[in-house]
Amino acid sequence: DDGGEARGSKGRPFSEQESWEDQQIRRSQLEFGAKDRGHAGGEYEFVFDDAVEFVKATAMAGTEPEDETDELGDEIDAKAMMQRELEDQRKTLPVYKFKDELLKAIAEHQIIIVVGETGSGKTTQIPQYLHEAGYTANGRKIACTQPRRVAAMSVVARVAQEMGVKLGHEVGYSIRFEDCTSEKTAVKYMTDGMLLREFLGEPDLASYGVVIVDEAHERSVSTDILLGLVKDVARFRPDLKLLLSSATLNADKFSDFFDMAPVFKIPGRRYKVDIHYTVAPEADYVDAAVATVLQLHVTQPPGDILLFLTGQEEIETTVEEILRRRTRGLGTKIAELVICPIYANLPTELQAKIFEPAPPGARKVVLATNIAETSLTIDGISYVVDPGFCKVKSYSPRTDAESLLVRPISKASADQRAGRSGRTGPGKCFRLFTEHSYRQDMADDTVPEIQRSNLASVVLSLKALGINDMVSFDFVDPPASEGLLRALEDLFALGALNSRGELTKTGRRMAELPLDPMLAKAIVASERYGCSEEVVTIASMLSAGNAVFYRPKDRALVADAARQVFSAGGSAGDHAALLNVYTEWEQSGHSAQWCADHFVQPRTMRRARDVREQLEALLERVEIERRSCSGGDLDAVRKAITAGFFRNTAQRRRDRLYRTLKTWRTVFVHPSSGMARLDPPPRWVVYHELVETSNEYTRQVTEIKPEWLLEVAPHYYQENNLDAPEP
Ligand code: CDP
Ligand code: MG
Repeated sequence: DDGGEARGSKGRPFSEQESWEDQQIRRSQLEFGAKDRGHAGGEYEFVFDDAVEFVKATAMAGTEPEDETDELGDEIDAKAMMQRELEDQRKTLPVYKFKDELLKAIAEHQIIIVVGETGSGKTTQIPQYLHEAGYTANGRKIACTQPRRVAAMSVVARVAQEMGVKLGHEVGYSIRFEDCTSEKTAVKYMTDGMLLREFLGEPDLASYGVVIVDEAHERSVSTDILLGLVKDVARFRPDLKLLLSSATLNADKFSDFFDMAPVFKIPGRRYKVDIHYTVAPEADYVDAAVATVLQLHVTQPPGDILLFLTGQEEIETTVEEILRRRTRGLGTKIAELVICPIYANLPTELQAKIFEPAPPGARKVVLATNIAETSLTIDGISYVVDPGFCKVKSYSPRTDAESLLVRPISKASADQRAGRSGRTGPGKCFRLFTEHSYRQDMADDTVPEIQRSNLASVVLSLKALGINDMVSFDFVDPPASEGLLRALEDLFALGALNSRGELTKTGRRMAELPLDPMLAKAIVASERYGCSEEVVTIASMLSAGNAVFYRPKDRALVADAARQVFSAGGSAGDHAALLNVYTEWEQSGHSAQWCADHFVQPRTMRRARDVREQLEALLERVEIERRSCSGGDLDAVRKAITAGFFRNTAQRRRDRLYRTLKTWRTVFVHPSSGMARLDPPPRWVVYHELVETSNEYTRQVTEIKPEWLLEVAPHYYQENNLDAPEP
C-alpha cells in the first residue's frame, strides 16, 4: 500500500476557483478514496496528462528566442552588455526613485532610519549611492552590517557585480574567520558581530565615515549592542553618518531610541497576496509542506515557490523527500523542478544558485530558513509555503540551559513571509496552520534575542570596551537583570572578571578571541598546560560546524566504525577524536580521498583549517606561546578543556545516566558521541554543549578526573562537591 506516500502528487490539481480549504478537504478525501480502492492509477494518469499540457504551455510561454550571439563576438561586448543590464535593473528598484531625496536627507541629518519592504534595494543600493556621492572620498569606509553571515556574503557578491569590481577590492566583506577586504575597500559589508569586534581595536570607529546598521528589525544581540555603541559614538563624532535600516514598520522604536531621528520611508511595491490556511492543524508539517510544494508544482501557473523550514537538517531531508516523491510519483514527464536549498552553512558556490532564474519551462523551489524572511530577496517568487515554525534560541539563567528549539513564529514573521510572494506580481501564501492559531496562538512579535540569550559573551565584549556598568548601558530593550547577573557570575568563575567585576588579564585575552567565553578560556588555559597547538585545533574543529562526519544510510555501520577509530573506541573522548581527525587529515596532505575513506566532510575540514589559521594569528596577539604537548599527553589537553568547560561537568549515576554537577539535571550522552557505547561509562565528564530535543543530550564529551575541577576552578568547586557517593 503506497497510500499517503505520494500524497502531493496523487491529489487532483487545484483548480483556480477552489478555495484552499476545499482543496485540503478534498485532498484528504481523495486519499481515503485511493486507499479504499487499493490503487490510485486513474488519478495518477489524470494528474500526468494535465500536468504535461500545463508544462508544455509553460515552456512555450517561457521560451525566449535562442541567443544568437556570434560565437566570435567580442567577450568585452557581452560584459559591457551585462553591465548595462545590471545598470537598468538597479534603476527599477523602488529606492532608485528616492535616491536624491535620500542623499539630501542624509546630508542634512546625522542619524536616519530607513524603512522599506524587503527587496526595495536598501542593502545593495544605499551603500553604492553613498560611495558614488563621495562619502568615501576622504578615505573613510562605509560599513553595512548584517545579522547573518550568508546575507552579508550573498549581498556583497551582487554589489561587486553591479559595481563591476572584483570582490574584495572596492567592495569587500568581513565575517567571523573570513576577511575579504583590502587596502582599497571602501564599502564593507560585515556581520554585526564583526563590527562589534572592531570596536575593540577602534572605539571611535575612526576609519568609517558611514555606518549602516542594516536589518535592525531582526534585533540580534550584536545589532542591539551595536545600536547602543554607535549612538554613543555619534555624539562625539558629528562627522559620522548613521543609518539604520529596517524592513518592518515598527521604526518608531528606533526613532525614539535615537532621540527622534527622522524616518525615511521607501514606498514599496506590494501586490495582493492571497492567504490560505489549512482547515485543521498539520500533524507533520514537513510532510504537509512536501505535499503542498508538489501539488503547487503540478497545478499552478508559472512562478517559483519559497518554502520556509527551520534548519539545515530539516532542509536536507525535505530536499530528499521532494526528490523521492517526485521521481516516484511523476516520472520524467513533469516539468523540471529546480530545488535550491539555502541555510547558513551552505557552501558559497551553491548559495548563488538560489538567485539564478530557473531554466525556461522549469520551476524553482527555494527551501530556506528564516534567512529568506527579510535578509535575502529572491526574485520571481509567486508562492510561499509557510509551516509556521522557526528555530529559536532560548536561555534560562535559572537553569543555565541554552537551547535551540523549534517554535511557532510570530504574526509579524508570518506576515513578512507571506509578503515574499507578492513582490513581482500577485502572490499566494499557503499557511500550514489554521487561521485560528494565527489569530489566537501566535505572538504579535518576536522577543528580541538579547532577552533570551546567554549574555556572557556580550558582557565580556562590553567589559573589554571599558563599559563597566551593564545596568546603565543604553539598551534598546534591556535584558533581564537575572541574565546579566548570571553572565557576570560565569565570567567571574572563568577568571575573566575579578571580584569587583573588572576585567582581568585573562579576561582581556579571552575577549580578543572571537569564541564563546568557555572556549576562549580553554585556549588561554592551554598556555599553562603547554598544549596551545592542540587546544586551538580542537577549538577550530568545534567552530567549523557540527558536521565533521557523515553517515550514508547504506553504509552506516562502516561509517560508525571508521569514526570510532578516532576516539580509540570512545575512551579517548570526543575532543581528542576531533584532534585526531584534524591531525591525520593534515598528515594526508589535506587529501579529499582521505576524507572519503574516513567518512569525514572535506568542507568542514577546510573551514577548520581557515579558522585555525586565524586563531593562530590571534594567539600571537594575546601572547600565548604556540606549544605542543607532543608525545600525546592528552591529560594536558583535557585539563585545558576542563578549565573552560568546568561548568559543564556531569557525573554518572548508578543508572548510567548523567547528572550535571551544579544544576542537577539529568542528561544523556548524545548517540553521536564516541563515548555513548563505552562500558562502563566514565564517572566524570565535561561536555561542550547541551542539546535539547526530547531529552537533554550532551555533545562532545570527554572524561575528566574530579580533582582537576579543584585545580582549574578553585572558586567554583569545593572538595565537598566532589566526594559525594555515587548517586
Ligand atoms: O535590502 P532590501 O531588502 O531592500 O533589497 P536588496 O537586498 O538591496 O535587493 C534588491 C534587489 O537586488 C533584489 O530585488 C534582487 O533583484 C537583487 N539582488 C540579487 O539579485 N542578488 C542578491 N544576492 C541580492 C540582491
Ligand atoms: Mg536588505
